[in-house]
Formats: sequence, C-alpha cells, structure tokens
Amino acid sequence: MDRVVIIGSGAAGLSAAIRLAEENVPSFIVEEMPPWRAQSNMAEGGINAALDTMGQHDEPALHEEETYKAGRFVACREAVHRLTHSAPKIVNTLFAWGMSLNLNEDGTIQQRPFGGQTKKRTAFASASTGKQLMYTLATRARFFEAGRMIRHITGFRFLKLMMENGQAKGVLVNELQKNRVSYIPASAVIIASGGLNGLFGNATGSVLNTGNVTASLFADGLPAANMEMIQYHPTTTRLHGKNMLITEAVRGEGGRLYVEQDGKKFYFMEVKYPALGNLMPRDVIAREEWQWIKQGIQPYLDMRDIPKEVSVHKLAGVLEACHDFLALDPLKEPIPVSPGIHYFMGGLYVDVNHRTPIANLYAAGEAACQYHGANRLGGNSL
Ligand code: FUM
Repeated sequence: MDRVVIIGSGAAGLSAAIRLAEENVPSFIVEEMPPWRAQSNMAEGGINAALDTMGQHDEPALHEEETYKAGRFVACREAVHRLTHSAPKIVNTLFAWGMSLNLNEDGTIQQRPFGGQTKKRTAFASASTGKQLMYTLATRARFFEAGRMIRHITGFRFLKLMMENGQAKGVLVNELQKNRVSYIPASAVIIASGGLNGLFGNATGSVLNTGNVTASLFADGLPAANMEMIQYHPTTTRLHGKNMLITEAVRGEGGRLYVEQDGKKFYFMEVKYPALGNLMPRDVIAREEWQWIKQGIQPYLDMRDIPKEVSVHKLAGVLEACHDFLALDPLKEPIPVSPGIHYFMGGLYVDVNHRTPIANLYAAGEAACQYHGANRLGGNSL
C-alpha cells in the first residue's frame, strides 16, 4: 500500500499532498470540510521571507535570529533555521505558481513590517493572504487531482490512528452524514489538523478546529510539546462567541495603539518601547493591554494616522469587516481591541523532518510543535 493519508486540507495538508505528488506518491486527503473552509483561509496579514527587496538588505540568518528570539529561545533551532532559510524559495515558488501578492512598482514582491522584526519581511495579498495562498495551493493540487495522485474525501472525521507492530498503518474515520465508520489503510499518515481554537470562546480561528485529532493521538500515548504556549493576538475584537482578528498589518502600515487618560491619548507601546513600539512581539503587547484592561481601561487601535489610500488599498478587508460586523468606520473612529487567543505554538511532538515518535506518522502545520517556541512571529506560520 503506497498511499499516504493526510488528515486536514489547510495549507499544511495541501502542501504535503503537492510535495508527495511531485515525488509520484499518491495521497488521500481526509477532510471534514473542503479546503476553502479551512482555517488557513482566515490568515490575513502575510507570509515572512527574507527576500531582500524593498531597497533594504535582509537575510535568512536575521530572520532566523528574530524568530528564535521572539520564541524566547525554546523553539527547535535547527527547525527555525530550516524554516527561515527555505522561506524565500517557498514564497518565490508560490508567486511563480500564480499567487496574487502586492507588488512594488518594479514588479518585485512588496513586503510590510510585522511585529518583532527589524526588516520589512512580510509578503502579503492586501489583508487576505491566506485566501490567496489557499487558492494557489488548491489550483496546484487540481493538476495532480486530475491524474488521481491527490484524492479528497470530504465530510469524514478522524477517529483513531491504527497501528501494527508499533507503526502507523491507517486511520479509522467517521463519515459524518451517514455516521458510518470506515478503515483507510495507508503507508504513512500525516496529521495536518490545525490548532485548538474550538476549545475556547475567545479565539480568532475556526471553531471547527476542536483539537479532536490531537486529543485522540495524545490519549493513545503520542507526546505533545509546548502545549501551554498559546498566543494571544493583541488586536482582536469580540464577535458572536468568538473574536475577530484585526490584522497586525494595520500596525505594520502605521496603526497606533492608545488608551484615553485624562481626556488625552496615551500611546502606551510607543512610550514604553520606543524602538519597535506598536510592532513589539505579540506577547509583549497583549500583556501591556491586559494591564490596562484590568484597570477597566479600554485600549484602542487607531487607523486614522495611516494615509487613507494605504488603508483603502492595502487594508480593504479590515475596513469592510469593521463596517459590516462592528458597524464602525476605522477611517473615522478607533477600533476597541483586546487580546484574543490566536495561535497554538505547541502541538504533536515532531523532529526536524516532521516525524513523530511513531514510525510512519508525521505532523505538520499548527498541529505540530517545533518552529515557534513560546511565541510565534506573525507571518511565520503561512
Ligand atoms: O495579524 C495577522 O494578520 C496575523 C497573522 C499571523 O498570525 O500570521
């Protein structure tokens, strides 16, 4: 049986299927929802790579250093090295496959500043980078789907890993509509089931990502690492039993955080952290905000200092979401924000080759631990 079963069809699952197909290995993607419903579509701000454009000098070694430092030195250094040194090739490949990205006038990929980084390193597609990425991966996957190298079964939930002689041998799945359990044999299994947002009421991600796959494997004895490292995004806003993300790109483009004190605006991040200010790593900003919120003081994110044409062209999705879902016009008024659960740095334990301790079982994407240590840099997950 030379067929890999992939659990999940977000960016990690689709990328794995494409790489396998390029090596002539067929895969079978087991998904509850089709790829266009995957959480990866919700990513807004961008994808990091030291591309050395924008009239600046940047290099993967600096990206590596800043990623490791933001993660408080607990990530796997070798994995961070590989991620940051692969990133330019990956972004250029996606671009060559047709991914829409904002461009400079000379046709090179435009990059914006993101938190915890000293260079403009975040390539982006306005404020819908995840959608563009997923569209590109899905289109690339279609090519292999036509030759049946990649197949999807939609509406199936992972139940259990099946093993033989200590090795992964397949999965038990539940066909949701018929409530029927089936066994799918496999030569290897890749877990790409995402984070654990559905466990919380104040997360920005998909509540469909309940962590059921991680929980089942953990209960079967698979180790997990850094599970306590949960990233709070500092600019989220409460919406219908979850939180809506206001992308870090707003601050990258010049948006400012403040609180009102004695009738005046106090720009608490700029005063306390003059070098990076509103672009300090997320954990630092979230903690600063929390200090104000504890005193009953509301932090605001102000887009009114950003030139209007920048907001309209590069942050249209934010203006639209605030208008439609919060009845608020950020060009005229500030957005009330608070920290919300956003990303799970930890996950199933894997080595630098994404191997779990069980033979033939792999994990990738947000379901796996490895790259982000105690705090992920925005733009480093896509
Ligand atoms: O703020 C954002 O756009 C989030 C990006 C990320 O978490 O990578």
